[in-house]
Amino acid sequence: MHSVTLQALNDFDEWRRAARGLLQAGIVPEDVAWRDPLTEAGLFGAEDVAEGDRPVGSVPPAFIELARTAIANADPERFALLYRLLWRLQADRSLLEVSSDPDVTRLVRLASAVRRDSHKMKAFVRFRSILDDSGLERFAAWFEPEHYSLEMTAPFFVRRFDGMIWAIVTPYASAFWDGESLASGPGGKKTDVPQEDAIEGDWKTYFSSIFNPARLKVAMMKSEMPVKYWRNLPEAELIAPLIRGAREAEQEMIERVASLPPSRHVRKKAREEIVPEAETEIVSLADARAAVQGCRRCPLYEHATQAVFGEGPKHAQVMFVGEQPGDQEDLAGKPFVGPAGKVLDAAVEKVGIDRSRVYVTNAVKHFKFEPRGKRRIHQKPDGGEIAACKFWLNLEIEFVKPKVIVALGATAAQSLLGRSATISKLRGAPITMDDGTTLYVTNHPSYLLRIPDREKQALEREKFEADLVLVRDAIEALEARH
Ligand code: URA
Repeated sequence: MHSVTLQALNDFDEWRRAARGLLQAGIVPEDVAWRDPLTEAGLFGAEDVAEGDRPVGSVPPAFIELARTAIANADPERFALLYRLLWRLQADRSLLEVSSDPDVTRLVRLASAVRRDSHKMKAFVRFRSILDDSGLERFAAWFEPEHYSLEMTAPFFVRRFDGMIWAIVTPYASAFWDGESLASGPGGKKTDVPQEDAIEGDWKTYFSSIFNPARLKVAMMKSEMPVKYWRNLPEAELIAPLIRGAREAEQEMIERVASLPPSRHVRKKAREEIVPEAETEIVSLADARAAVQGCRRCPLYEHATQAVFGEGPKHAQVMFVGEQPGDQEDLAGKPFVGPAGKVLDAAVEKVGIDRSRVYVTNAVKHFKFEPRGKRRIHQKPDGGEIAACKFWLNLEIEFVKPKVIVALGATAAQSLLGRSATISKLRGAPITMDDGTTLYVTNHPSYLLRIPDREKQALEREKFEADLVLVRDAIEALEARH
């Protein structure tokens, strides 16, 4: 038996050096005892094997990518699993394509769990302010990840909070950003991080403003936001009263929806030929909603908090397509909850479209922005990003099967038409799409918000509402036909 003792819990390069040494020496996976730095060492009395720096064999890039992530999983078997796969890949380079293979399945599962963990860290880390005697402000956060995901997630916080001096402390490691460079350190304790600070109130206000009963329900049921994270959130003490208020609102909503006539759409089985995204098989809208979080089709995922998928009835007759989530949508994980959403809601209500029967989504699922101090300034997605994200919009159209689609703004129109579009030329008349869907094009609601002149704004608002009247009439005509 050969033993390998790694120093780091999650260092792919360290593991790779050791694995190359073993591979070069022809040591079969069954003869290797990998010692997790945290688990008991010395179970097997044997000599360590020399490290190998020379590349050996060859593996598909997909293995490297998955292995780099999976190595941060807290599963003590991860090093052995990776070596077994590395060994097997030498004989069968297409092994990763065998999704039923237990080693492959496990690798994918380990990597997915780490990505989820990293995502939770991005969403739930809360910085607290520390003022020193000289008045210098620093920020610190305590977080308890399930895996060793701090190192892979810290660059996200660097990009997001590059103007601050901060530390994130976890039980196994810590990360420090001094405004110029990122350093790592040992793990710590919750008490290393201050419990109260001046910005506490801001978090609470923020949380109650984005609080939404449906999100909470999903979060609780799916354990997206497990109670263990709540402990570290200042807003946790607001949760109980909010839930009480939300339950009443939710009950009211259930009663309203229950009184709607049942959908006339026949629920068809999802098409088998839909290409699975990375590791996920996408055969339903719910699958797509889950899979989009792992989207790497363009670089926008790197900076956004999360992908924001569409929302609304599964088989809505009408789908509104916006550009991309804004700052608030990015944080809340829901489309059109910010200022543009308010404009849209008001106009939809004014013309008499039942908002609860509308599916609302975006052409691009990740927020594109430029950090400016603590603010995130919206950036228009480019053609490549729009095209890359069409995959997700197509899935939404495929599963929801709307009869009418409304493109809100040039980005949505470009995505849906496959070419750049001028709103003024396209608005006011239906466009029949290849699949028979009727498309209406109008301005984006945030365009209205940006018009400084009041009179011009009122005029554009009227034009926007007139476009929505066409949509309402189209829906009514459809309903009359059935
Ligand atoms: N703008 C959009 O296009 N979509 C949103 O979800 C929010 C703002």
